[in-house]
Amino acid sequence: MLRRLHKDQPASFAFSPENQKWAEAQVTKYPEGRQASAIIPLLWRAQEQEGWLTRPAIEHIAEMLGMAYIRALEVATFYFMFQLQPVGSIANIQICGTLSCMICGAEDLVAVCQELIAPKAHQVSADGKFSWEEVECLGACANAPMAQIGKDYYEDLTADRLREIIAELAAGKVPTPGPQNGRYAAEPLKGLTSLTEYESGRTQHNASVALATELGDTVKRIDGSEVPILTPWLNTARPEAPAVEDPRGGALRDEPRPAEGAPADKTGVTEQEAQADSEARPISKREPEGDGATVSSGESDPVPEATSQVKGAETATDPEVEATDDATTPEADTTTSHAETQATAPDAKSTATGAGGKPTENPAPESAAPKSTGSGSVVADSAASEGTKPAALSAPREGGADNLKQIKGIGPALEKMCNDMGIYHFDQIARFTEAELAWVDLNLKGFKGRASRDKWVEQARILADGGSTEFSGRVKKGDVYD
Ligand code: FES
Repeated sequence: MLRRLHKDQPASFAFSPENQKWAEAQVTKYPEGRQASAIIPLLWRAQEQEGWLTRPAIEHIAEMLGMAYIRALEVATFYFMFQLQPVGSIANIQICGTLSCMICGAEDLVAVCQELIAPKAHQVSADGKFSWEEVECLGACANAPMAQIGKDYYEDLTADRLREIIAELAAGKVPTPGPQNGRYAAEPLKGLTSLTEYESGRTQHNASVALATELGDTVKRIDGSEVPILTPWLNTARPEAPAVEDPRGGALRDEPRPAEGAPADKTGVTEQEAQADSEARPISKREPEGDGATVSSGESDPVPEATSQVKGAETATDPEVEATDDATTPEADTTTSHAETQATAPDAKSTATGAGGKPTENPAPESAAPKSTGSGSVVADSAASEGTKPAALSAPREGGADNLKQIKGIGPALEKMCNDMGIYHFDQIARFTEAELAWVDLNLKGFKGRASRDKWVEQARILADGGSTEFSGRVKKGDVYD
């Protein structure tokens, strides 16, 4: 089966603030250097947010995880859980077409889909509510033929029962998943011949059906208020899924945590430290419509926080850059008390340049001591740990900017972020001090810790000296980016 990206793609992708926060937490579940392991949950969340998996979403996630686009594309195109084209607004029906199901009537199920939904797989029905496709074995062969609809399995299907199910879904109902012929689970069709004592202790549904029914997190439906029912974390119209006790200490299942005391990422910050930090620091939170209102909250919100940090630091070092950012970056209107305390580059002779990229002397450094903000020592501690902003260029030097994407770990989004920080050339990165690297790490909005994790400085030194790396060679050949 050919699985290709859809011909019509949106221009961009961004996780919602809630999903961004969730995605960043997912990444912390994996050991240092293994962040790519988070790709499947992140792709899945992007699909749940958008309805299908777009190219910008795949690229965005690849960048979040420091992967080459092609690696993320390989995952997205391999698993048919990922929908590479728009699907029905209620459900995409996946008919298993592998041996057991085919022998037991999968072709009849496909015929029903062709009749009721669309003649060809991956076409959306005329009313936009359904789509269908044939997929490979879903591991329920003992209950063939079967289909996955939404997140649930409908087993022991017949053509007539599938018709009824589609009609029920169209009417806004969610049929009970599991065997559709009266079987309890995967016992012999004529009933148990052994272990019959277990028959008397049966609950209403087998364990998977009971869980699916309890969660209710199945197909996308439109309820009376026209709110699409996608997922518990996005849905405002249905009750929360029941909380599940985490055996490690009370967290809900949707709140992944690294092992106790283990660094969440290469910045070396443990989840516990991050939690303490976020509780201690007042962080501004931009209102959804961006009216500039701020609230102090212990809740971690990485996007506005990072933006505010950039702004705060630029305020101290490069008014020209700040003015540009204010004009172009809607988030720039957020403020935080700790952002105002950013220290500047302590080395007044470092290679800052003026307009046109000509070297100029850095503005006189402000004291590394934080300004008084009324927030006390918490703010001072925060500023001290946030490093030093590297000298910025207001524009690339003559000859143009270097292709920073030749550094493994920098994709188009991070390259733009670097440029927005006034970093255009390999030699700028090659000269980062530890404090500057720490500052950059902290100010990579949505990508915290990536500069050190991906060893930008080491790579930049090679490239600044005119050398090349295996990765830069592939970028030059056009193997990585279009
Ligand atoms: Fe259909 Fe395995 S053959 S689930």
